Amino acid sequence: MLVFETKNELEERLNKIWPSNNLGLVPTMGALHEGHASLIKKAFLENKHVVVSIFVNPTQFNNEEDLKKYPKTLSADLELIKSLSKDIIVFAPKINEIYADGPILKKYDFDGLDKVMEGEFREDHFNGVGTIVALLLKLIKPTRAYFGEKDFQQLRIIQKLTVLENIPVEIIGCPIVREPHGLAMSSRNERLSKDLRLTAGFIYETLTTAKRKFGTKSALETKKWVRKMFKNHEKLNLEYIEITDVTSLTPVKRKSNNKKYRAFIAVYAGDIRLIDNVALN
Ligand code: PAJ
Repeated sequence: MLVFETKNELEERLNKIWPSNNLGLVPTMGALHEGHASLIKKAFLENKHVVVSIFVNPTQFNNEEDLKKYPKTLSADLELIKSLSKDIIVFAPKINEIYADGPILKKYDFDGLDKVMEGEFREDHFNGVGTIVALLLKLIKPTRAYFGEKDFQQLRIIQKLTVLENIPVEIIGCPIVREPHGLAMSSRNERLSKDLRLTAGFIYETLTTAKRKFGTKSALETKKWVRKMFKNHEKLNLEYIEITDVTSLTPVKRKSNNKKYRAFIAVYAGDIRLIDNVALN
């Protein structure tokens, strides 16, 4: 495993790899878990060479406290990566290596994809994600880049970003990895008490039932039912439930047979914000 902190060292190594046009990239913010590992494994199955980037990007956090508390576990991350393959290249730059002249936040027109759900509740979050992902894609020039459906809205926005920035890369979506009781794996789960972590299984349980309900009920009725379920819950606070079509991410008004839909949710467990989503058809 090679670990680089500087762009120069990384580029020097990649110079030998680029001609093969067989390079996968898995961008992460570290605090790696089985969800990240699934992306890395898929990248290895489909590419001869794999780069995993680890960088906690400050410009996508709209809450100082959340940024400060974001877990930093580099040595454990490197152990996990090493256990998957010794051939992986890790790019773990310090903040000055990426933003030498101070943090940059590019403003994008994502065609409304960033105006709903996570975008509505986290101003400029997706401009921050777009800025760092474009920077990494342009630097690393992967053949394929891997993103989790756990952040489905982010995945759609990154697909759009590569068109806007004209970056020749295949963006590959990977299924959500869950804890045994259904909670979607997330670096933030580590901050939950044992009790609350188990309780949070209710989020996926509710989404699964909502999926069944959506078979016979309207989007409005299904969302109303989810809201009721959380209103009665003592420990979990619903921030939003939304049902959108998977392409435009616009909320569904009337169901159509030839469209694919997904339900998206954000919930507070104490002061920890958790997100999840499921395919509805
Ligand atoms: P991070 O939250 O570290 O996630 C890195 C990648 O892992 C993302 O593509 C995310 O969707 C995926 N992932 C996280 N949990 C997952 C799970 N339970 N199952 C499947 N995939 C999962 O997302 C980011 O970092 C950042 O925004 C980043 C894209 C790196 C830009 O800074």
